[in-house]
Amino acid sequence: MGRSSKDKRDVYYRLAKEEGWRARSAFKLLQINEEFDIFKGVTKVVDLCAAPGSWSQVLSRKLRGHAENPDDVKIVAVDLQAMAPLPGVVQIQGDITKVSTAEEIISHFEGENADLVVCDGAPDVTGLHDLDEYIQAQLLLAALNITTHILKKGGTFVAKIFRGKDVTLLYSQLKLFFKNVTVAKPRSSRNSSIEAFAVCEIYNPPDGYEPNMSNPLLDLQYDDFNQLTGINRTIVPFIACGDLSAFDSDRTYPLQLNETEDYVYHPPTQSPIDPPYKEAVMLKRQNKLAQPQVKISHLSTSEIAPQGSSSNSQCTEKESKQDETDITELEDMEISG
Ligand SMILES: C[S@@+](CC[C@H](N)C(=O)[O-])C[C@H]1O[C@@H](n2cnc3c(N)ncnc32)[C@H](O)[C@@H]1O
Repeated sequence: MGRSSKDKRDVYYRLAKEEGWRARSAFKLLQINEEFDIFKGVTKVVDLCAAPGSWSQVLSRKLRGHAENPDDVKIVAVDLQAMAPLPGVVQIQGDITKVSTAEEIISHFEGENADLVVCDGAPDVTGLHDLDEYIQAQLLLAALNITTHILKKGGTFVAKIFRGKDVTLLYSQLKLFFKNVTVAKPRSSRNSSIEAFAVCEIYNPPDGYEPNMSNPLLDLQYDDFNQLTGINRTIVPFIACGDLSAFDSDRTYPLQLNETEDYVYHPPTQSPIDPPYKEAVMLKRQNKLAQPQVKISHLSTSEIAPQGSSSNSQCTEKESKQDETDITELEDMEISG
């Protein structure tokens, strides 16, 4: 695998680097906006689960870029992880399940509410689909809960959702708070992923609703909610968004070059500032990573190459090339949202 292999495989990953976005996720928000015009009239916005910051970049470029006075635009970005600074974006390193985070966000709006809240939050997926869907649903409910503290009436909430088997309950909960709830699948979101985005328009909480971080929203009992009937079952429209001529995120596109042009590799726009693999990369460079102890008992001695023999050193060289690639990929990883 060379440096350009991911550029070839994933057109949005490549475009993100070419256009200076920190992650390919930027295109998801841009395509949702193309369909729903969610940025119209927005001057105060909260970006929940914002790191490494491509959605905040989109908000900053679109809202500040089109404002008469960019300083009138307030963008507050929240994440568990630290994020490199962005123009006009206030950052809070915090947990969206905590009421103190809601209070800190509100303090930045000087008593006013937000026009728009977006949340691209995702837990570290385990691969166990039921568990991943459950945790994602909990994160979305935490985002909704925090939104009820900070969004103005009539405002918009956009949140990542996993279209798992229990998703109808989430739709019903969102419909309690918003007049319109639509599920959007941007072209840049892979078809192979169950990810989609709930676009919730016209915030209108039930009469007398008091926002409360300890209310039972987070305490849902998982069962077969697709059995809900009548008024309890909410069916929301599903919309595929992004222009039909936009790139298909599940296809592989050749590098668009003419004969006279050489391919130019673009490094990631913003390297991770404190990645969890930093120590491993440093140890690898110093050749201090522990070697796995492999016991080969079923091979005869003639089948085992002695230490330092040519076959052994070839293997080491190949492995080390692979490791180099792995490290480059790790360093590129931040862009692949
Ligand atoms: C897919 S990334 C977001 C990408 C981002 N929208 C962008 O465009 O760069 C998901 C983020 O959710 C954050 N996250 C997960 N749980 C969180 C929590 N409880 N509070 C705050 N952030 C959380 C993770 O730290 C991670 O940065």
